[in-house]
Amino acid sequence: MPDSAQHDAQTIHVLLEEGRAFKPSAAFTAQANAADKDIYERAEKDPEGFWASFAEELDWHKKWDKVLEWESPDAKWFVGGKINACYNCVDRHVQNGKRNKAALIWEGEPGEKRTLTYWDVYREVNKFANALKGLGIKKGDRVAIYLPMVPELIISVLACARIGAVHSVVFAGFSPEALAERINDAEAKLLITADGGFRRGMIIPLKHDADFALINTPSIESVVIVKRGDFPLRVKEGRDHWYHRLMQEADNYCEPEWMDSEDMLYILYTSGTTGKPKGIVHTTGGYLVGTYATSKLVFDLKPEDVFWCTADVGWVTGHSYLVYGPMANGATQVIYEGAPDWPDRDRFWQIVENNGVTVFYTAPTAIRAFMRWGEDEPDRHDLSTLRLLGSVGEPINPEAWMWYHKHIGGEKCPIVDTWWQTETGAIMITPLPGLTTTKPGSATRPFPGIKAEIRTDSGEVVEQGGGYLALTRPWPSMLRGIYGDPERFRDTYWTKWKDGAYFTGDGAKRDADGYFWVLGRVDDVINIAGHRLSTMEVESAFVDHPDVVETAVVGVADEIKGQAIAAFVTLREGVEMDDRLEERLKEHVVRKIGAIARPRQILFSAELPKTRSGKIMRRLLRDIASGRVPGDTSTLADPTVVEKLKRRYEED
Ligand code: WTA
Repeated sequence: MPDSAQHDAQTIHVLLEEGRAFKPSAAFTAQANAADKDIYERAEKDPEGFWASFAEELDWHKKWDKVLEWESPDAKWFVGGKINACYNCVDRHVQNGKRNKAALIWEGEPGEKRTLTYWDVYREVNKFANALKGLGIKKGDRVAIYLPMVPELIISVLACARIGAVHSVVFAGFSPEALAERINDAEAKLLITADGGFRRGMIIPLKHDADFALINTPSIESVVIVKRGDFPLRVKEGRDHWYHRLMQEADNYCEPEWMDSEDMLYILYTSGTTGKPKGIVHTTGGYLVGTYATSKLVFDLKPEDVFWCTADVGWVTGHSYLVYGPMANGATQVIYEGAPDWPDRDRFWQIVENNGVTVFYTAPTAIRAFMRWGEDEPDRHDLSTLRLLGSVGEPINPEAWMWYHKHIGGEKCPIVDTWWQTETGAIMITPLPGLTTTKPGSATRPFPGIKAEIRTDSGEVVEQGGGYLALTRPWPSMLRGIYGDPERFRDTYWTKWKDGAYFTGDGAKRDADGYFWVLGRVDDVINIAGHRLSTMEVESAFVDHPDVVETAVVGVADEIKGQAIAAFVTLREGVEMDDRLEERLKEHVVRKIGAIARPRQILFSAELPKTRSGKIMRRLLRDIASGRVPGDTSTLADPTVVEKLKRRYEED
């Protein structure tokens, strides 16, 4: 078990004895989209029929012939169906009386506000789809998107979906090198970026950064630049085009490309246990059904709701619960560009109050930051419009859950703690807010139709107790592959057990009521502020520096971010240690990956604990970095190394 898992297991133990539980109010249940307990049983009896009932609520150009074809690890959902994701998120609402409904209410960090109705989105998306076509983008081509949280980010994603181009959104906080790596892996033909974006009052010069990436991305033929501000940049004639100029010339209507249900919708890169990020592939029909159904039942979306998911579209949460799920439901959403503490620590509550937000979805790391900033911040605002709260990204510690319940939810809003992954595409384990009695810290039980188990290494099912979390039945929004690497796809997710069940990489526990408590990763993935980074990726960034010969990176508990990076570094012989070396190395890692990867601490050491076969024992390093007594050292080549390191660490 990883450190966070051990820590949480203790918390959970205490909590279970305490037995706090929250039943939904009768009033909430009475109005809920999922109000009938039979839903679980119905879905269990006929999962394919259950999912098909949601597919029926979408608009298909041609109905599917068969719901599912499945042979682990290959799934095909809604086989033979033709559908367009953009059409379902935009056109059908324009046709069904939601033409003038607000789709996106956007606030820029400096304070501007723009509201786009479904009609506005329709116009913009059609035009931009035509602009992309004009630049030679066809069905199946990959388009990289590197934008701040502006409406054009959502428009770009939907425009790609409209013409059948595969989008690959790269979080704007990633470095140029990380961007280049993702562009090259997908062999993207076009990049959409912006002159810049705002973060805590600073300007992030995105195009300027992207220019560094573009030196090494031979597949890119054109670049589209969204004008966010008035930020200086270089425009390369012939290759670079301003978004607003293209839009002036573009036609108003673009026929959607009718995609096969199994045609690729997007690639999204996520960290795995090895250095190279994995391009997770999602296809069209099933993904849309999964995100549509979960948005409807978990967030209980109603036409009058104002939904705010605080995630960036650079992560899967933004893909599924900002773009596709809510928009397929015709929701009204708030989008915010910047930081929660800019200009003040009550910015989020100001936004909730100003826009009458009703359903709010954020991450535990944010909740812990709010806790630290104190309840005065939310207390100064009228949050009475809120009726439902959500959490995602990492285990939520019970104290944070209780604070969220009390100070944001006013003790009246159900909380949905939703467990899922980039790979699962949609929420897998979650309360249904009108039905489930929640326990702080537990994601409760699988969504109807989903089958989850706790398993031992050898595949035995653990009814009560801890083990590995497995998903043992296919689901519509499941990943269809790792882009260009079928072998890695198979090895990472599908070969842990003989029966070909999906291995999540998470450890979890199941209690006497059958509730799931997800504890954290069991592999070398670190979860920083709800964002996945692999230790290997960070290590590669370190050893890329000329002064470093070897390094081992581990995740350590962090009060706000959940986990932080601690690095053990061996320097090249003869390198002069000076005060600034640590800072230089940290900067180097940030340059390679992005600011989220900034190590919290670096310990320099001439030796690292290794087994006789030369494998670094990260487990011992984790113990040292967490201030624990190091565990079993008997397999070490040189047991004295650990003692030395421990002493050094304590002095540091
Ligand atoms: C963790 C984010 C506990 C988990 C949607 C998972 C969670 C990884 C929860 C996926 C939760 C996400 N409770 N842990 N409610 N939600 N996780 O791909 O370790 O960025 O495997 O997807 O985050 O991260 P990813």
